Amino acid sequence: MLSAVERKIEQFVADLDDQYVSSLYAKLPEGKRLRAKLILKIAGSGLSVVKTAAIVEMIHAASLLHDDVIDDAHMRRSKPSLNAIYGNKTAIMFGDILYSKGFFELNNISADVAKIISNAVTQLSLGELQDVSLSKAFNDDKEAYLKMIYQKTASLIEASAGAAAILAGKPKEAYMVYGRNLGLAFQMIDDILDITSDSATLGKPALHDFAEGKTTLPYIYLHEALEMQERQKLHSLHGRVLAEKEQAWVLEQMQKHLIIEKSYGQAKKLIDEAIELMQVRGEKALSDIAKEMIERDF
Ligand code: FPP
Ligand code: MG
Repeated sequence: MLSAVERKIEQFVADLDDQYVSSLYAKLPEGKRLRAKLILKIAGSGLSVVKTAAIVEMIHAASLLHDDVIDDAHMRRSKPSLNAIYGNKTAIMFGDILYSKGFFELNNISADVAKIISNAVTQLSLGELQDVSLSKAFNDDKEAYLKMIYQKTASLIEASAGAAAILAGKPKEAYMVYGRNLGLAFQMIDDILDITSDSATLGKPALHDFAEGKTTLPYIYLHEALEMQERQKLHSLHGRVLAEKEQAWVLEQMQKHLIIEKSYGQAKKLIDEAIELMQVRGEKALSDIAKEMIERDF
């Protein structure tokens, strides 16, 4: 039924009656559509459900268009990002168009759904701002990292699950916790993959986050594990593209202190909770989505 969501997004874009915008939309690489998948699995495939899924995916796509400008990222899903092809101005405005059209359509769903989704978009923006702020210096505060990834990533997944539960007349709390845990784990795994995957698999240079100044969970754990002198060395490497030898040192230290295992363990704990929550509700498809997430390649 995901194809119904694709058709709905295409229709919303076609409503704008602008050839150039339609051609930009055609250039967007297809995503995993995780948020739409959750919404459909929770609430079925009625028209309001499909519309809500399409709106959420448009907002998500808009946020990634802006994020790639903010991160100066030239690749998205192994393809040149839209900002790389058309420049920052076009990427930002196209993001604004998807975002505002999504918001316009949100008005036609229900006040409760509009409230939960629009609140999450504010959280997204706060989280992205915090991500930028935290990267200005070496952040070793795990709580600050967790709050930031909750806002930046988990809030929209949590809201998607909550909105779907509202549409389906299901109790929204359990679904929101499920979505929140899934979102937190998703971002943690994304942050781990930035370290463990090679650049070809990743579609962007490895250790890109650290070069960007982002000290994600593994760097926070590594910082905790290192002796003072090594800690200083880690600080000296922060926020720049590393030479091969420096990169090897970071990876070696991560291995020595079992940092990836520890970070993965955190994500797994959240996923296990999410699986449990859905299993007791008999929501097999949803617990399977959580299982698949933790089984991604390391
Ligand atoms: C990706 O993070 C970024 C997000 C999930 C959220 C971005 C949010 C905004 C730009 C604010 C909201 C804007 C609008 C238009 C709704 P990442 O850089 O860690 O992940 P990546 O590796 O996929 O780039
Ligand atoms: Mg980014």
